[in-house]
Amino acid sequence: MTFGQDEWVSSSPLRYFPVDGRPWRLTMGLRPLEMSNWLEVDERRDEEIAQKQSLLEHSYSAVVAVEDNSHPAQLELAQRIGNALDVNGISIQPWSDLELPIVWAARNVQEDLCIMEHDGTRWRLTAACVCFPSRWDLQEKIGQTLLEIHGPVPRYREDLDSPVEDFFNRLSVDRPKWRLNWTVLDTDELHLPSPSARRALELPKDLGGLTFRVERQTLIRLPLSNAIVFTIRNYTAPLRVLLDRPGHVAALKDTLETVTSEVADYKGWSDLLLPLLLWLNDASSEGAER
Ligand code: HEM
Repeated sequence: MTFGQDEWVSSSPLRYFPVDGRPWRLTMGLRPLEMSNWLEVDERRDEEIAQKQSLLEHSYSAVVAVEDNSHPAQLELAQRIGNALDVNGISIQPWSDLELPIVWAARNVQEDLCIMEHDGTRWRLTAACVCFPSRWDLQEKIGQTLLEIHGPVPRYREDLDSPVEDFFNRLSVDRPKWRLNWTVLDTDELHLPSPSARRALELPKDLGGLTFRVERQTLIRLPLSNAIVFTIRNYTAPLRVLLDRPGHVAALKDTLETVTSEVADYKGWSDLLLPLLLWLNDASSEGAER
C-alpha cells in the first residue's frame, strides 16, 4: 500500500522501471513527492521488518551509525514516522527507552533511514540505520560529506556534486522530493554491506536469474532540527520478468550499450556487459517474433 490509498498495492514483480533507453548518465532526476506517498508499504513488509530485526540483533554495528549530536534530528524523524504510521493504521512496535530513535523508526518501516545535517560548511551524514545497503559500508560513510560519501561513484564530483549540494541547501519543508536509482546484481539479497567496486559479479548460467534492483529514495527537510532525511527503499526482481515487457528489454539494451568502462568497473559489470547485451538482444528478437 502507498499511504493515502485504501488498498495494498502489490510490488511484484517490479514496481518501478527507471530505464528509458537514453544514453547512460548521472542525473539528479528529482520529482515532487506527495507526503502521503512518503513511505511505501507492500506485501514484503513482515519479511523485511523481520530481516531488519535480525540484523539489528546480530550485526548492529554494520547497520547503525550515529553521531551524538544527531539526537534532536533523530527524535524529530521518529515522531514523524510514528505519526505517518498511526494516521494510516499501520501497526507500530513499542519503543524502549534504551533504543536510539532512528533505530526504532527504521524497524517500523521497510525504508532505510539516513539523516544529513549541515555543519556550517557542508552537509554530512550524522545518523543512519541502513539494513539494506547496495554494496557499501555504513561505518565508512558516517560523518562524511556528500562528496566524500559518493567518492567511488564515477563522475559524481564533476557532474553531480554542486547540483546536489545546491539542492540540499534549497530543499524546503513543503517541497519534498523523490528519485530512483537502479542497478543489475548477481544476488537478490537486500543486505549487501561490502563495497562492490572491487568485486566482479558472478554470471549465472541463465542471465534471467540476475537481479534488477531499484532504489526509491526520498528527501525531506525536518522543520525543527533543519536536518534532511534521506530514505532508501529497495525493490528487486529477476531480470527474466522483463521478458514479458519488450519495451523494457529494448530500453535496458539501449542504455547498457552506452555504459563506459569506468562505470562498468564501478558496478562490477566488466565481464557481464557483453553477455547481458547478447541476452537482451535475443530477448528483444524473441519478443518481436511473438
Ligand atoms: C539528490 C541526492 C543524491 C543523488 C542525486 C545521488 C546520486 C547517487 C548516484 C548516481 C549513485 C551511484 C549509484 C549507482 O550507479 O549504482 C549514488 C551512490 C550512493 N549514494 Fe547517493 N545520491 C544522493 C544522495 C545521497 C545521500 C543523501 C546519501 C546518504 C547516505 C547517499 C549515499 C550514497 C551511497 C552510500 C552510494 C554508494 C557509494 C559507493 O559505492 O560507495 N546518496 N548516489
